[in-house]
Amino acid sequence: MTNVTYLDHAATSWPKPPEVVAAMARFLERDGGNPGRAGHRLSVAAGRVVYEARELLAGLFNAPDPLRVIFASNATHAVNIAICGLVRPGDHVITSGVEHNAVMRPLRALEQGGVRLTVIPCSGDGTLDLDAFARAAESAPPRLVAVTHASNVMGAILPVAEVGAVARRTGAYLLVDAAQTAGTVPIDMQAMGIDLVAFTGHKGLQGPPGTGGLVIGGRVPVHEMTPLTRGGTGSRSESENQPEDCPDKFESGTLNGAGIAGLGAGVRFVMERGVHALRAHEIALARKLAEGLANVPGVALHGPGDWERRTAVVSLTSDRLSASEIGFRLDEEFGVLSRVGLHCAPAAHRTIGTFPEGTVRFAPGPGNTPEEIDAAVKAVARILG
Ligand SMILES: Cc1ncc(COP(=O)(O)O)c(C=O)c1O
Repeated sequence: MTNVTYLDHAATSWPKPPEVVAAMARFLERDGGNPGRAGHRLSVAAGRVVYEARELLAGLFNAPDPLRVIFASNATHAVNIAICGLVRPGDHVITSGVEHNAVMRPLRALEQGGVRLTVIPCSGDGTLDLDAFARAAESAPPRLVAVTHASNVMGAILPVAEVGAVARRTGAYLLVDAAQTAGTVPIDMQAMGIDLVAFTGHKGLQGPPGTGGLVIGGRVPVHEMTPLTRGGTGSRSESENQPEDCPDKFESGTLNGAGIAGLGAGVRFVMERGVHALRAHEIALARKLAEGLANVPGVALHGPGDWERRTAVVSLTSDRLSASEIGFRLDEEFGVLSRVGLHCAPAAHRTIGTFPEGTVRFAPGPGNTPEEIDAAVKAVARILG
């Protein structure tokens, strides 16, 4: 399927770079032993592929220790490892008003079990109320602050470094949901005071679906964390208790070796192109799209006006047609692929006033061109005209 204008990179990037596909094929055809489960050459080769991916990710996020890169199925899984691992009944947790359900649902579930949850409001364009956040953290020091790096609905980037400074001052750990930013916005765990980064492999990192992970910073006491799953790790097999060492404590069962091989190649692609260059390309396209759409009668755009403070996500609503009808016709009549609805982030839509119908969301990626953006603008104009 090549005859489409794919503008849904915030859901998943497509097509994947050829290097990613090749790395996965190589793993399946050549290196495909079970990593860490045997001493034979194929197990060792697979283990090397997995370790290289850990090193690449630690480098990308400036994390102190590749062994604290924990592989998971996706960002949701990684967020759950962090939240369920660290938070206990009676703890205070602070989050934002633009979270994806990957963060909000585990927190709401813990709230029912006796965790105190504070949701800091954001303004109509997704800007976090930093003063309200600092007041909440200072009046009841939290165990964990869990915030998205950028909203998947309207692209607003949250000031995680400022949040990190308050978290440190009040003794909290900072978990950042980097699903929308890993690979497209620079993330430096040490400079930004981030303790845990949950990332997904299949969006900006250009890896395959079924990959993601949690990077645990040096300040986090791993021995105080409860693992989400327990089972075989290939290490300390004499013991019936879960090992305490990273990454094994959090990685029970056979890893997604082929997926991790692809993810490693995706991270290499990102590092070779450069996060700044990828961001510049995507933001130029998103800007062009937003500027074109702003001239279409009946279109309302959402998100910060300052492109320094947003990702390459453009969300629109119209008083002429529903989001779902616009998205359906974009696909059916013009082959322009967007994502409509609430994007698993009802809190964000409540914040920007687009709940319950949601928006039509466009998200360009590395392979998109200015001509495709023109085609998308024309298609919206035809549909609403
Ligand atoms: C902000 C945000 N958090 C979490 C997720 C969940 O990512 P995954 O589907 O990889 O678990 C997404 C995916 O859309 C997202 O946009």
